[in-house]
Amino acid sequence: MTEAILLVGGKGTRLRPLTVNTPKPMVPAAGVPFLTHQLARARAAGVDHIVLATSYLAEVFEPYFGDGSALGLHIEYVTEEEPLGTGGALRNVASRLRSGPQDPVLVFNGDILTGLDIRALVAEHERTRADVSLHLTRVTDPRAYGLVPTDESGKVLAFLEKPQTPEEIVTDQINAGAYVFRRSVIDTIPAGRPVSVERETFPELLASGAHLQGMVDSTYWLDLGTPQAFVRGSADLVLGRAPSPAVPGRCGDRLVLPSARVASDAKLTGGTVIGEHAVVGEGARLYGSTILSGAVIEPGAVITDSLIGARASVGARSVLTGAVVGDGARIGADNELRDGVRVWCEATLPAGSVRFSSDQ
Ligand code: GTP
Repeated sequence: MTEAILLVGGKGTRLRPLTVNTPKPMVPAAGVPFLTHQLARARAAGVDHIVLATSYLAEVFEPYFGDGSALGLHIEYVTEEEPLGTGGALRNVASRLRSGPQDPVLVFNGDILTGLDIRALVAEHERTRADVSLHLTRVTDPRAYGLVPTDESGKVLAFLEKPQTPEEIVTDQINAGAYVFRRSVIDTIPAGRPVSVERETFPELLASGAHLQGMVDSTYWLDLGTPQAFVRGSADLVLGRAPSPAVPGRCGDRLVLPSARVASDAKLTGGTVIGEHAVVGEGARLYGSTILSGAVIEPGAVITDSLIGARASVGARSVLTGAVVGDGARIGADNELRDGVRVWCEATLPAGSVRFSSDQ
């Protein structure tokens, strides 16, 4: 058996306003808090002990997951008084680990949706006797990411900051946010101050001659850090494109939780999910969208690739594409919202007040 640390303490600023009331890992994707999918996948890979490293809105995790037994896990919670960063968080939970100094400890960022073969990463770590092994994924446009070039055997050669010029794009491999650490390496991270594992720990380990091994695994991978990515990930879970044992229902075009009410002529497609006690009115059309608990979609609304927060409402005939509506916000009838617009929690938009067309 293996143990794992999940990093779930970030502020999730890129995902605001969804993260105003809820930490990113607890925002529902495909009907359950996103973290549930990661915990279930870890369990399926043989992990039995998980330490959650919490900071921002730390108090919400334990009431939901408890001791983890419902998922077949033993979960412990460690809260940072001041955020310690990704590396500081690892050091801060070291005393809770049960592994011996040479044993492998898994580490996951709490906002990655992936089909990574976790057992294969651990096996590669043990085969190569690395100090740290990293899941690497290939992206078509590496400009937004730190790059991780490797030699032909997979040994990491460097950690490069986001490339500024085409010449600096020396590889399409990026850090995918899942690692295996030799336990003793975690104990060498400085304690009691913020440390970034990506910017400090990994480059310093490399400079000191440590063996960092990269494993390229090109299965499904998505960083759910932005609203657009989050909605995409939730839809992919519903559609079955992203694997998770924790989707509450059969995979398909839509997921409607049992307590939701959906008009018989509403059209739900593209991995749309309707959360608990949400209501969808007549003739509404929803494509690839996530409707959180208690939200109300009035008749004739058309919602594409958007996320509607808990208890929010979308008025009749409003058209939303690529929009995020915060918890409790009220969008009046006949509005048009598009392209990355973020409506803040509890905000009110009167009927017909935002249009892109000149039809009024
Ligand atoms: P942004 O503010 O939108 O960049 O999101 P974030 O705060 O989640 O940061 P980022 O996506 O870089 O974090 C990667 C992972 O590390 C996420 O799962 C975070 O929850 C986690 N994380 C980031 N900073 C901390 C921290 O200080 N403490 C702990 N425990 N986890 C952290």
